[in-house]
Amino acid sequence: MKIFLDTADTQEIIRAQILGLIDGVTTNPTLIRKSGNDPIDVYSAIADLGIPDISMEVYGGLDEMHTEALKLSERFGDVATIKLPMTKEGLIVCQDLSKRKIRTNVTLIFSIPQAILAAKSGATYVSPFVGRLDDQQVAGLEVVRGISGLYQMKGVNTQVLAASIRSVQRAVRSFYNGADIVTMPFSVFSQMYDHILTDKGLDIFDKDIAALNKEN
Ligand code: G3P
Repeated sequence: MKIFLDTADTQEIIRAQILGLIDGVTTNPTLIRKSGNDPIDVYSAIADLGIPDISMEVYGGLDEMHTEALKLSERFGDVATIKLPMTKEGLIVCQDLSKRKIRTNVTLIFSIPQAILAAKSGATYVSPFVGRLDDQQVAGLEVVRGISGLYQMKGVNTQVLAASIRSVQRAVRSFYNGADIVTMPFSVFSQMYDHILTDKGLDIFDKDIAALNKEN
């Protein structure tokens, strides 16, 4: 059960890392743009924080994606996971990177046929977008379950990385439905350890400790 943070904001990564439970980070062009920084600077800053697995998205035509993927891999070594779109070109690049033993994450997965093609292309991870499927009135978790079940049945090594996660409930249910990894925004991760009953319980204990100290 791996937890990745879905962010390009290093401050969020630093805050989440205090717990020491972050296994990786996923970024995308939208998140990079939001950070206001250059992609390479963002990846370098995240790598400097000791994150061992960073999804770095490549875009453009086949040649552009391929060249960029090799550049990123050379620069960042084993820390780099090359994130490729679920397109014909993306799958062709994925096959080459897979032969070179470079980790890949095929993103924008919305169906089981897409996940089959990505697995056959040697993808390390596939990223089904749970929230965006839910937005279309399609149960994102069912897609996660379908892909995970099929991969397990066929002994496929590709791991399911549930993405577009907008609530703790969806994060938890993604694991229940077979996801190997869940990538989530910092706001969702922060709510994973919160519970109203934990707060109330602590409050009661604090009051009892204060009372005990007065009594003794
Ligand atoms: O990992 C993909 C994610 O960043 C997309 O999330 O909420 O924009 O669908 P969302």
